[in-house]
Amino acid sequence: MLWLLLLQVSASCLWLGHSEVVTPFASCPQFFYQGTPPNDALMPNNPVRICQRYRNQYRFATLYDRNRRIPVYSAYIYQPGPSPEPPLRWFVEPQLINPYPKDMKTEDFLIKQIGQNQAINQDYKNLTGLDRGQLSPSSHQSDYDSKVATFTLTNIMPQNSTLNQDAWQKYENQTMQKQTKGCTTTYVITGAVPGNKSIAKGRVNVPSYIWSAACCVVGQNPTRTWAVVAKNDKNQVQ
Ligand SMILES: *[C@@H]1O[C@H](CO)[C@@H](O)[C@H](O)[C@H]1NC(C)=O
Ligand SMILES: *[C@@H]1O[C@H](CO)[C@@H](O)[C@H](O)[C@H]1NC(C)=O
Ligand SMILES: *[C@@H]1O[C@H](CO)[C@@H](O)[C@H](O)[C@H]1NC(C)=O
Ligand SMILES: *[C@@H]1O[C@H](CO)[C@@H](O)[C@H](O)[C@H]1NC(C)=O
Repeated sequence: MLWLLLLQVSASCLWLGHSEVVTPFASCPQFFYQGTPPNDALMPNNPVRICQRYRNQYRFATLYDRNRRIPVYSAYIYQPGPSPEPPLRWFVEPQLINPYPKDMKTEDFLIKQIGQNQAINQDYKNLTGLDRGQLSPSSHQSDYDSKVATFTLTNIMPQNSTLNQDAWQKYENQTMQKQTKGCTTTYVITGAVPGNKSIAKGRVNVPSYIWSAACCVVGQNPTRTWAVVAKNDKNQVQ
């Protein structure tokens, strides 16, 4: 099932002439090959599509699961660059508060409201053996502001620390670098499969798997596609 989904996501860059796809990421289709997000097979019960915007620019796109408070996937264009890593500071999305309050509110009230639909900083404090794993990693962005934008709590899931710091990071750093040689544009979608465990008193799901699919476009032609998957309690990327 997972492999089928992965194949679908990764092969979809090689299917030309998709029809009748109404783009649901209307403000940020540019992060998907041919403006085409994955089909509804990945849709959770309580989804929200986020065009991740920072300093007046769209940086990447996220499908977020408001019930499990983890992203389903983040989609971005691979553009690693030499800009320094930003200091650690975590963003939330006030746009997920619904209805958006028009009057002044207390800070406590706002944090509670934000926390209803997404993970907040407190949820990730004091974890052992789990990291804040970014689906759209800062190391795959070129400029400083785009790196900063990846530090949003809607782009992370609890990821096995060993995996995050070793095998997954090697995939992100080394495998991606090799695979993308000669690509004009590389579209990436990285996602999390929900698991049966959670953190923060059940508020935030701990994914069972993490996957990533990529599409290499040379000139105008999609030429290569690949995908990997990792079990979130093993230090191994397949
Ligand atoms: C953090 O976790 C440790 C061990 O799991 C526990 O002893 C400690 O009380 C926790 N601290 C807070 C602030 O929750
Ligand atoms: C991956 O790249 C980051 C940032 O450039 C670096 O800190 C890290 O040590 C690298 N890790 C591996 C496993 O190559
Ligand atoms: C989670 O639990 C369900 C029901 O018990 C089971 O079918 C499923 O395989 C479990 N998933 C994982 C990743 O362990
Ligand atoms: C993380 O992965 C390592 C390596 O496989 C494993 O030993 C450890 O138990 C895992 N930790 C968690 C919290 O899943």
